Amino acid sequence: MDNSTRIDPWASQQSTDYARIRDQFGLGSIDVSRIPNPSMLHRRGIVFAHRDLDVVLGCMKRSEPFGVLTGLMPSGKMHLGHSMVIDQVRWFQEQGADITVTVADLEALATRGTSLAKGRENAITEYVHNYAALGLDPDSTNIYFQSSRSAVQRLAFTLGKRTNLSEFESIYGFKGDTNLAHVQAPLIQAGDIIHPQLEEFGGLRPIVVPVGVDQDPHLRLTRGIAGKTHWFNVKPRKNGGITVALSVQDSNQEIFGVSPNGRVDRATRDDIFEKLKTSIAPMGYSDYIPNPKHGTLDIPGAKVADIAQVRMCVLSLERQLGGMGLMPPCSTYHRFAIGMTGDKMSSSRPETTIFMDDSIESMTKKVKKAHSGGQPTVEEHRMHGGDCSKDVAFQYLQFFFESDDAELTRIAREYESGRLLAGEIKQICIDRATEWLTDLSDKKDMWADRLDEFLAPDAL
Ligand code: TRP
Repeated sequence: MDNSTRIDPWASQQSTDYARIRDQFGLGSIDVSRIPNPSMLHRRGIVFAHRDLDVVLGCMKRSEPFGVLTGLMPSGKMHLGHSMVIDQVRWFQEQGADITVTVADLEALATRGTSLAKGRENAITEYVHNYAALGLDPDSTNIYFQSSRSAVQRLAFTLGKRTNLSEFESIYGFKGDTNLAHVQAPLIQAGDIIHPQLEEFGGLRPIVVPVGVDQDPHLRLTRGIAGKTHWFNVKPRKNGGITVALSVQDSNQEIFGVSPNGRVDRATRDDIFEKLKTSIAPMGYSDYIPNPKHGTLDIPGAKVADIAQVRMCVLSLERQLGGMGLMPPCSTYHRFAIGMTGDKMSSSRPETTIFMDDSIESMTKKVKKAHSGGQPTVEEHRMHGGDCSKDVAFQYLQFFFESDDAELTRIAREYESGRLLAGEIKQICIDRATEWLTDLSDKKDMWADRLDEFLAPDAL
């Protein structure tokens, strides 16, 4: 593939050409002015792209239920890079979302050789404990293990019917020698992402998945799979409005009035159209143009922006009729913070990041050694100023430690003008990081005996 990027969720190196990734994969841009109570990650453009975020923004506006699904690999230690997703999860939770957290213990077992017992222990001590300290509310948080949630495993298995090797080849670049654990893991992840919509896990509602761009292939796969299960397709209509079209499949042809010889039974089909109109009635449209024979219902007065709500109506009908009724997942994407050495942040190289349980001493050492955007000499620095875009201390204030925008802008201005020296901005970062780590450790003490409150019943 020349001139295009393939995103590999298992690669250690990721492209950071975010504009290009956004364009190539058709991600939407984030318009901060349309986000209620934007968090610092939104305000600073760190959460930079999305798929179908409008769907959940609509739920927030209308106070309708929606959920968040996120997942963790229980094989490593939690560091700053992981905390970004949790900041977003907490923000969604504050806006009314219920939260489901996957411990990807099957994925870690298959791809990293982490035993289930070790995965469990590590997930709780490293991740759940920090999630609690970072402020997730246990009342609407449910953490589960892939290995003990059979509904997820069953979905992974059955959703496999809706994709094939060619799709895996084009999304992930798989070849003949690809280990099949890499085929199973995305299917399990599709199960993770889809399953909160099952009746026993909260029922039909939009689910948003905040991730780094490296996970987008899994979202493309899952959205494609969800779309293929649909009994009704909802799309923009050529002459304005929207069209709902029946998608006749083996599982629904009898219900849709298609007899084995291909003939359409008029009475059955009319009945489906009545049900379809009834399901959409709450939207209050006055005009419908039904074409039962072709299986289309045009709604000229609907707006393209109504598609998600109409889709919810018809998915609900689909469920009543015996279909799965799955809303395609929404997603948001964040930029990655640079590693402290100036290249990629990675748990396997402790000098590139700050772990949630790093001592103040160790954090201080790392910041002091961190890649700097300052000039080689004080004279040059005073003259040319520092480069915030390369400066780890500044970036970490921006991504993690300084929540006050005015203060951050002040620091940037001082640094870029040369008034603030490289050593001085590092000291500011150290001071803020000290507060941050101390607060986190206090909160961890508070939650130490209460972690069970975050676990779903099947995880206890
Ligand atoms: N594959 C993810 C990772 O490598 C972990 C994961 C599993 C996940 N299921 C998920 C992430 C669902 C988001 C949503 O980190």
